[in-house]
Amino acid sequence: MSANPPDPQPTPDLPRHVAVVMDGNGRWAERRGLPRTAGHRAGMKAARAAVEHSIRRGVGALTLFAFSSENWSRPAEEVGVLMQLFVEGLQREVRQLVDNGVRLRFIGDRAALSARLRESMRSAEELTAGNDRLELFIAASYGGRWDIVQAARSLAADARDGRLDPALIGDADFAARLSLGAAPDPDLFIRTGGEFRISNFLLWNLAYTELYFCDTLWPDFGAVDYDAAIAHFAGRERRYGRTSGQVRSGA
Ligand code: IPE
Ligand code: IPE
Ligand code: MG
Repeated sequence: MSANPPDPQPTPDLPRHVAVVMDGNGRWAERRGLPRTAGHRAGMKAARAAVEHSIRRGVGALTLFAFSSENWSRPAEEVGVLMQLFVEGLQREVRQLVDNGVRLRFIGDRAALSARLRESMRSAEELTAGNDRLELFIAASYGGRWDIVQAARSLAADARDGRLDPALIGDADFAARLSLGAAPDPDLFIRTGGEFRISNFLLWNLAYTELYFCDTLWPDFGAVDYDAAIAHFAGRERRYGRTSGQVRSGA
């Protein structure tokens, strides 16, 4: 949780929680003379491979940014195909997720999604609720600012109704109302596709996450690229404001 005292231990080799901005689907397709939506189809395969590789490596939680609050501004046709792919993909993959011990949860503004998609999401969450090998969060219609605002709204409502003293609101209360709830903050952030930005992903939760950017377009991102990101992470020293000497002595 965000409010826990930062970990003074040397960085473990493996991130517990990896968060990914899966960027570059459109360019992948355009370079092949294909419609952008072909890139999104290929991107879904890469997402499936990332889930499998997370399990193989023992990563405990994976958050995939599939569709941002701002992606609603794309051409209606592209948005429509993406939504259709989500519905089809969920129906196709849920069995495999159950078999692989994956617990699937969605984060984002569901009110903006179709009733059909919301129903597929609810059903997939229910079917996988008993699993604990990998926690998979899919961010759909998600924005980091939206997340912070909805947490603030929930705190404000409790304060208004006398359930919460505003003077006592702390990091932990805030973090608990964010979409990732009790999940540990991401240790490693990966963005494919060559852009160096967060694009309104997990703004609160990324406060001390190690950032990794690569040029590989998401549909081309495979096990070798994932392992390179994990190796980068293993080489970082996470100081959380301390000095290097303090970290090395475990102070
Ligand atoms: C990421 O790929 C997928 C979504 C945002 C839905 P893009 O579609 O952004 O691909 P590029 O960045 O245009 O290549
Ligand atoms: C970020 O990618 C969102 C997802 C991968 C879902 P974008 O392609 O939407 O980001 P910008 O527009 O380049 O910042
Ligand atoms: Mg993009």
